Amino acid sequence: MIKESDLEKLSFPGAPEIITDSVPGPKSLKQLQQAPEFESMARGAGRFPFVFDDGFGSTVKDPDGNLYIDITAGVAVNSVGRRHPRVVEAIQKQSNKLMHGSDCSSSLRLLLAKKISGIMPPGLRDNCITYFTQSGSSALESAIKFVRKITGRSQIIAFHGAYHGVHCGCGSLTTGDQYRKDFGPFIPGVIHAPYPYFYRCCFGTKTQKKCEEMCADYVDYLLNTPYTAADDVGAVIIEAQQGEGGYLAPNPEFFQKLKAACEKHGALFIADEVQSGAGRSGKMWAIEHSGVEPDMLTFGKGMGGDVPMAGLSMRKDLARKIADGSQPNTFAANGVSAAVCMTNIDIITGNNFELINRVAKLGEQTLKRIRKGAEKVECIGDVRGRGFMIGIELVKDRKTREPFDADLMGQVIMGMMSNGVIMVPCGRNGNVLRFMPPLTIPKQYLEKASDILLEVLSGINV
Ligand SMILES: Cc1ncc(COP(=O)(O)O)c(C=O)c1O
Repeated sequence: MIKESDLEKLSFPGAPEIITDSVPGPKSLKQLQQAPEFESMARGAGRFPFVFDDGFGSTVKDPDGNLYIDITAGVAVNSVGRRHPRVVEAIQKQSNKLMHGSDCSSSLRLLLAKKISGIMPPGLRDNCITYFTQSGSSALESAIKFVRKITGRSQIIAFHGAYHGVHCGCGSLTTGDQYRKDFGPFIPGVIHAPYPYFYRCCFGTKTQKKCEEMCADYVDYLLNTPYTAADDVGAVIIEAQQGEGGYLAPNPEFFQKLKAACEKHGALFIADEVQSGAGRSGKMWAIEHSGVEPDMLTFGKGMGGDVPMAGLSMRKDLARKIADGSQPNTFAANGVSAAVCMTNIDIITGNNFELINRVAKLGEQTLKRIRKGAEKVECIGDVRGRGFMIGIELVKDRKTREPFDADLMGQVIMGMMSNGVIMVPCGRNGNVLRFMPPLTIPKQYLEKASDILLEVLSGINV
């Protein structure tokens, strides 16, 4: 039985606590100023004004000693919180045994592949072969090549708002000007279709259901039209809950229609669960909310947590079509990463998925709490999501739905930081706050952060 008092011991007590006159404090400021001289600002969250110095569970400290509640989980990575004692122990043990083997068999790697097979969604569960990588991008990059080899088809359908990494292959699936502008050309054969985004439906539909139907029908059409890709689409790659594109969680029927269209036209259905997986949506994999059986699934982020771990699990009959030795990867399933991933899976799925069930329950409560608060906070346009993957879309005007601009978002992020909570935005207009704490966040921190969020938002002058 998970006890709140036990979870509280896995984070620093007393958060939030801001001890400097303003944030970022002087030490943080100095580092923020120096960083661009030494590190490329092409990195994620470019100039996000926070410097990590220490982290424990769902709390982090900056170099000035300020203590924050972390609603970012390192961008959906620290599923079990930072430096969970069982993870630290696993690292210590494994680092005294074997860290780097080679890109071939190791006892631990085999154990991990078996374990992953046992926790995949139906269709892949106990029926998959896993290809390990160190990043979500590499998993998606490999998926593109494997689809071509397996199906003999050259085209792929992805979605507006999608984020599947930034290399040239997977970056072709990703949308968003900041990742694409002046970096092209990307690989040919990628077709983008609308992802259901009812709040800003490109078809102008009146209901969520209709929006989802139109989006699924459009993919069905694309798969079959001679004008684009008939008989040449190898796969539909979709985030089971869209992350960077705005934290969108379509209903089961959308995915069911999509899968039926794939089956009808001979395309594979690939669920990208790099962000939505590892329990974050309130099920081990977000695609499980729909009952759809994916042909492949990509994972990353929360499976590794404090260490890099990602990969691609494929139905066995498909994986066997890929030639041995055709996609080597030097650091795949490094010993420490594999040991940590095993431990994370144990913590996340332990005691009959108790932690995940807690995420589902607390996620629902948080959604309600923020929706209720939003009744009085004019700038909240929409609150949506599942589990610990909640999106809060901010608008200048509820009627016109004009998105918050970068200045207003900056005020929100700084307002949160000054009150001891870190959060990062997402969305096509950069105006969606992501509520994505570690799965192990103590309830009192979760509630404190939600209250601070509502307080900060009610103080913003549009
Ligand atoms: C859905 C999804 N796929 C792929 C990636 C790329 O993962 P990585 O940054 O580990 O390369 C991300 C990262 O945010 C993601 O959210």
